[in-house]
Amino acid sequence: MSYRILAAIVLFLAGFLPSPASPIFSLLAAAFPGGGPLSQESLAPYVPTPQPVVDRMLALAEVTSKDVVYDLGCGDGRIVITAAQKYGAHGVGVDIDPVRVREANENARRAGVEKLVRFIEKDALNVDVSGATVVTLYLLSSSNLKLRPILTRQLKPGARIVSHAFSMGDWRPSKEETLTDGEGFNRTIYLWKADGVVRP
Ligand SMILES: C[S@@+](CC[C@H](N)C(=O)[O-])C[C@H]1O[C@@H](n2cnc3c(N)ncnc32)[C@H](O)[C@@H]1O
Repeated sequence: MSYRILAAIVLFLAGFLPSPASPIFSLLAAAFPGGGPLSQESLAPYVPTPQPVVDRMLALAEVTSKDVVYDLGCGDGRIVITAAQKYGAHGVGVDIDPVRVREANENARRAGVEKLVRFIEKDALNVDVSGATVVTLYLLSSSNLKLRPILTRQLKPGARIVSHAFSMGDWRPSKEETLTDGEGFNRTIYLWKADGVVRP
């Protein structure tokens, strides 16, 4: 094949690649209401929190049966499932990965807490968290910072935010705790309390 023909094929194909400005991109985005795979941004890869750390996160937040615990990026659902099992709390897990949401629903059914918890496939940056009294996070520092204005605008004063491993910029936590997990690694947990101040 001559160089000219090859170049023509490459240019032709390039014309069909969707760019954010192209109508093809808009059509694909419209096909995925609520923010489809093209508009969703990964806030962290899937790495589950070890169970002893989950237990400490919930204890640090002083979760009770009156709480509604949201885990943004819920993975296999272990945090909200544990909150339901141990404390009788209601819970909502949010994840962009449908495999994780299916797994979380299955785990909730096996744990017998499916009436207390629900899992939704959605971008955590587009979720209404105003009903949460506790929000748990195991994302990245940069992702926590993206969520900070949303959380501080929507959460009611007194709501708690607990993050495994990652802080939230210059917003100093009201508590910080380091524990050693089952494999001998140190894990830090941060706790903030919503106080009505919106932090950009
Ligand atoms: C580090 S894992 C934490 C899982 C769980 N919270 C835990 O502590 O065991 C991060 C999770 O966030 C999810 N995730 C990444 N980006 C997301 C986004 N934009 N919206 C919702 N979930 C997201 C990933 O699919 C993954 O399951």
